[in-house]
Amino acid sequence: MSKKLWGGRFQAETDQLVDEFGASIGFDQLMAEEDLLGSLAHVKMLGKTGILTTTEVEKITAGLHDLQRDLAAGKLQFSKANEDIHMNLEALLTERIGPVAGKLHTARSRNDQVATDFHLYVKRRLPKVLTAIKQLQTVLLQLASENVETVMPGYTHLQHAQPISLAQSFLAYFNMLQRDYERFEFNQKHTDLLPLGSAALAGTTFPINREFTAHELGFQAVYSNSLDAVSDRDFALEFLSNASMLMMHLSRFCEELSLWVSQEFNFVELSDAYTTGSSIMPQKKNPDMVELIRGKIGRIYGHLMGLLTTMKGLPLAYNKDLQEDKEGVFDTVHTILPTLKIFTGMLKTMKINQEQMYASTENDYSNATELADYLANKGMPFREAHGIVGQLVFKGIQEHRNLQDMSLDELQAASPLIEADVYHELQPKVAVERRNSLGGTGFQSIKQQIKQAQLLLQKE
Ligand code: ARG
Repeated sequence: MSKKLWGGRFQAETDQLVDEFGASIGFDQLMAEEDLLGSLAHVKMLGKTGILTTTEVEKITAGLHDLQRDLAAGKLQFSKANEDIHMNLEALLTERIGPVAGKLHTARSRNDQVATDFHLYVKRRLPKVLTAIKQLQTVLLQLASENVETVMPGYTHLQHAQPISLAQSFLAYFNMLQRDYERFEFNQKHTDLLPLGSAALAGTTFPINREFTAHELGFQAVYSNSLDAVSDRDFALEFLSNASMLMMHLSRFCEELSLWVSQEFNFVELSDAYTTGSSIMPQKKNPDMVELIRGKIGRIYGHLMGLLTTMKGLPLAYNKDLQEDKEGVFDTVHTILPTLKIFTGMLKTMKINQEQMYASTENDYSNATELADYLANKGMPFREAHGIVGQLVFKGIQEHRNLQDMSLDELQAASPLIEADVYHELQPKVAVERRNSLGGTGFQSIKQQIKQAQLLLQKE
């Protein structure tokens, strides 16, 4: 007989390479805490339902507490021979309390055990992600409040389009993060389900009480179908998908920041604490973190694609393929939490070059829409106004002058509707200030948006 925990029906040992290839202890030990919590709740339920005696429950519980203490102290040694965290902990428990440890696995299989550990792992990390998103949102809102009247070029196609308030830009990212927040929040619903008690696939004949176990572990509900329970990884896919979208938003922001810190833009300066130097060029101050965060998205998309592909075509119920579900999720947790923290610190300490932002709106044609709107306001069809202003812009480009540099005579030659008050409206700050349509970049509109954002932050 094989020496494995499941070795009864085997005559020979597994090939050594198979042991190594099949083992997950190298990574699933990250769920050791969750595995012990799951076992503690399970054994309590076994006692409560009379499936195990009080003495047995006490012995097993004491052994599990012992393991919890040693785990916290970093004293547990795991071995590849025991394949995964579940069998490693069971083996350690047996070493400590003897054969009664074998009773822990009554009415349970590794299939519902691993699913439970994994649910618990994600369930315990989601609040950390939510908090980290909120912290970043708080900084964005702070920056927005401080920069309502900071005027900068607004871009489409990365060309100067119309001047906007810098706060409008911060609030745009705030809103993206709000949707991320809500997605992760919803993620909790499908994570907060207990698979334990589904046993291998079909439930069990033991008179277990799954609601009791769920309550012990703080799960909102139990899976209502045992086949679904042991093979569902939607909650992990949702987590990876939400993380992908979060990272996508941050990578867009990173792209803007890397432009903004360049000499050509010079809109912001990142603090020394979040930048690095060059080993050869003494003058360099590189936005490494901005680039690294932008780059990290590759692995997160990869994890999502990886698990989606692993799950594709997988028959019910548990298959060993499912062992591939964990590493990507662990890595995603270990990537997005520091990413959010670093991003928060980086924005908090960033210096904004307001003069430079404003200056770059004064030396372009981003007030052309203003002039067209001015004419439309005086009754000219907008299309006609667009054409007239387009011709003025063409003239300006040829003569290296902006619209506001042209004399009233020149402007009136283009249209007699233009009067001296036009120069006021052509100022970038005025152009921004007045755009108070709902959601617009006008100062009043922004103050309104900030109020709404504050309410959202306080809500959760
Ligand atoms: N290490 C396995 C995993 O991560 C645990 C479940 C194994 N179950 C089984 N029947 N082989 O998926």
